[in-house]
Amino acid sequence: MRDNKPSRTALKVALNIVTLGAKPGMENILPPGIVQASQELLLASGVVGPRTISLAGSRRAVSVYEAFDWMLPGQFEAFAHRKAFFERQVRESIGDGANQVLVLGAGYDTLGWRLAPEYDEVSFFEIDHPATACLKSKGIASMGKRKNLYLIAEDLGKRQLAKVLNDNTSWSQNARTVILAEGLVMYLLPEAVSKLFRQCAEMVSGGSRFAFSYIPTGADGRIDAGRWTGLMLWLQKLVGEPWTWSILPEELGPFLISSGWEMAPELSGKPGRHGVEFYAVAAK
Ligand SMILES: C[S@@+](CC[C@H](N)C(=O)[O-])C[C@H]1O[C@@H](n2cnc3c(N)ncnc32)[C@H](O)[C@@H]1O
Repeated sequence: MRDNKPSRTALKVALNIVTLGAKPGMENILPPGIVQASQELLLASGVVGPRTISLAGSRRAVSVYEAFDWMLPGQFEAFAHRKAFFERQVRESIGDGANQVLVLGAGYDTLGWRLAPEYDEVSFFEIDHPATACLKSKGIASMGKRKNLYLIAEDLGKRQLAKVLNDNTSWSQNARTVILAEGLVMYLLPEAVSKLFRQCAEMVSGGSRFAFSYIPTGADGRIDAGRWTGLMLWLQKLVGEPWTWSILPEELGPFLISSGWEMAPELSGKPGRHGVEFYAVAAK
């Protein structure tokens, strides 16, 4: 990704959440409080102004997204399902005894900020590229810091995750942990993805889980984002955040085993595509 520019895709996800808040029915899918928190965070971080938030939260914005649904069928609503899926993973894991949450490539996601007061015995860690993480830290400082939420600014393509986490004295390698990588791995190089999964396995105890979304590889060996894959790849490159990793769904199991994890389909719920992505859960 572009070195000193805040992530545009992270901004797009957060604005998308604001727009989904204006679509009737989405309140039954979106986690409670997420729309308000996303609006506040974007404003407090200074990434957008009130006018953009108001436009993003309008019915007109909903119509625009819906008009483009032919290009990436289901992708607009998929962000609501994605947020619900990852939040469910965290709540279930904590219910099963996890006391550490790690959000990789967190962007302007508000899960840690919203859930930290509710689960005050759980430590929440977030890592993102400094260009985005620094803006987010500013926003969180203004919204109200959480004593059990640690924001880490680091480029995961450059620095080893194990070193990053070991530098934080609050991180425990022996804790049952839930790791989230929501809309992240497609932006990393293949070698970085393998390393990330291996290091995650080394940094947590047994009973931990790793929930992630990914874009599959198609039968032709290329990233498969549907009919308009070529255009999407070009657009992602244009914004400086190209998609660089995908995997054949049938190769995911062996890949996870080689990285110290095991597929846990019983934890991931209904299989299938959500917009351009698949969701998966691995267990240790
Ligand atoms: C599509 S956004 C998703 C943000 C968030 N997970 C969400 O779904 O709301 C991808 C995020 O990954 C982060 N990212 C991409 N490459 C990264 C890297 N090498 N190190 C750290 N973060 C990275 C970007 O800064 C961005 O915030």
